[in-house]
Amino acid sequence: MENAKTVTVVGAGYVGLSTAVALALLGHEVRVLDTNAARVEGLKRGEPPFYEPGLAESLAQAAPRLRYTTDPAEAYDGSEVAIVAVGTPPTPAGHADLRYLYQALETLAQHRVGLVVVKSTVPVGTNQDAKRILGPGVAVASNPEFLRQGQALSDTLYPDRILVGAEEEWVFGVLERLYQPLVEQSFEELPWLPRPKALREAVARGYRVPLVRTGLESAELAKYAANAFLATRISFINEIANVAEAVGADIEEVVRAIGLDPRIGPHFLKAGLGYGGSCFPKDTRALAYLAKRGGYDFKLLRAVIEVNQAQRYRLVEKAEAVLGRLTGQTVVLLGLAFKPGTDDLRDAPSLEIAEELLARGARVRATDPKALELAKQILDPRVETFADPLEALEGADAVLLVTEWPEYRALDWAEVKRRLRRPVVLDGRNALDPRAMEALGYVYQGIGRGRKLSELAL
Ligand code: UDX
Ligand code: UDX
Repeated sequence: MENAKTVTVVGAGYVGLSTAVALALLGHEVRVLDTNAARVEGLKRGEPPFYEPGLAESLAQAAPRLRYTTDPAEAYDGSEVAIVAVGTPPTPAGHADLRYLYQALETLAQHRVGLVVVKSTVPVGTNQDAKRILGPGVAVASNPEFLRQGQALSDTLYPDRILVGAEEEWVFGVLERLYQPLVEQSFEELPWLPRPKALREAVARGYRVPLVRTGLESAELAKYAANAFLATRISFINEIANVAEAVGADIEEVVRAIGLDPRIGPHFLKAGLGYGGSCFPKDTRALAYLAKRGGYDFKLLRAVIEVNQAQRYRLVEKAEAVLGRLTGQTVVLLGLAFKPGTDDLRDAPSLEIAEELLARGARVRATDPKALELAKQILDPRVETFADPLEALEGADAVLLVTEWPEYRALDWAEVKRRLRRPVVLDGRNALDPRAMEALGYVYQGIGRGRKLSELAL
């Protein structure tokens, strides 16, 4: 490749690894630096450190241009661009913990890499700090990502847009060349991650993936604004769902009706238990904190966060309303991961729901197709875990559908009913069809659909 560069990616998490794989597939030489030796050793053997569709195959495909190390000297020697993608987890106070980022920058300051690209989600002003830490002669760019777990690689390879914040013209130039095959979608398609048809057709008509140029602060804020806006849509639709439940409307019908308005659109309007994961909860809190520190009270965002928190507990409250006291009752959680397609449990609603059920005296059972091993390490030991959902459901009093894995939709619900002690299904993700469930004799309610709570009787 004409514009091939030697790039170091710092942090082999979801974001770092997806970026590293993508750049290698585009034709760049990529070194991946991570402080976690076990993770690096695993990657050298071709083992992905977490579950992500297509990752193992892509790592193998990109292997000739990917190297892994824990040694900064090895990672940075001869490298032209460093892309920092270490985690920025929330502190208990709600702001972003920048410890790992600063460690990475301080190490970088001791090496000669002319351009440092911050991919981690960081509070506005952090890239200016990075400039100070790195000193004169090193340029900084902000290059936030918008990938979703479970689709990390396809979101990276087929982005809606690429965002670059910088202050020097040449920096934009370097990143434009680095990402050129992504912009033009000219890299070879992977059989296991095919280019979406609409994108392929658009590219044939001359479409280019937009690369948006901004200042450093705008790029930093745009990342938070994107996540906060999506979180706002979710909390908004959850509140409409709660109203639908109170008045006897069906949220799925409401969404179909409003989503056709192009000003609204159909996406991110799925009512449920609220958002979880490593990004929305963290980034909404960090943005509220950032605003407050700047002297602005972001009321709407505070409400979004509050609604999301309350939404998790509503399911427990409904279970109690239907069953009467929860003491001694066996409640099964179908799904633990914060969403399907991942084994990630960071800020998963399931964890708080399990705790709350235990606190109210219920016996809690849980199952998940991917996250069970991880869950065993962090769940209260009183939660019984099952690999087989049918076993978990044996003799239970209520089922809470927490993660909409296709496996649960595909369960033989007639068979499930024979196993349950009481046929109560509270569907926290609207994964099941209320009519079909009622026809089978279930006491069923989704979020904002199905019968009113007052009409649910055992
Ligand atoms: C990313 C981030 O970039 C974060 O800012 C964004 O908000 C969400 O996505 P993610 O890829 O999910 O984080 O991070 P994680 O899966 O936690 O991985 C971070 C990696 O960095 C780990 O492999 C860890 O070992 C590594 N790391 C961490 C370092 O190499 N050095 C450190 O000092 C700390
Ligand atoms: C999100 C953003 O989508 C991504 O652009 C950003 O880079 C990182 O954060 P991710 O956390 O992987 O990605 O998952 P996403 O699919 O966005 O879902 C987040 C949470 O919102 C999940 O808990 C999901 O269940 C919930 N959700 C999503 C809803 O409740 N309703 C919806 O309509 C969509």
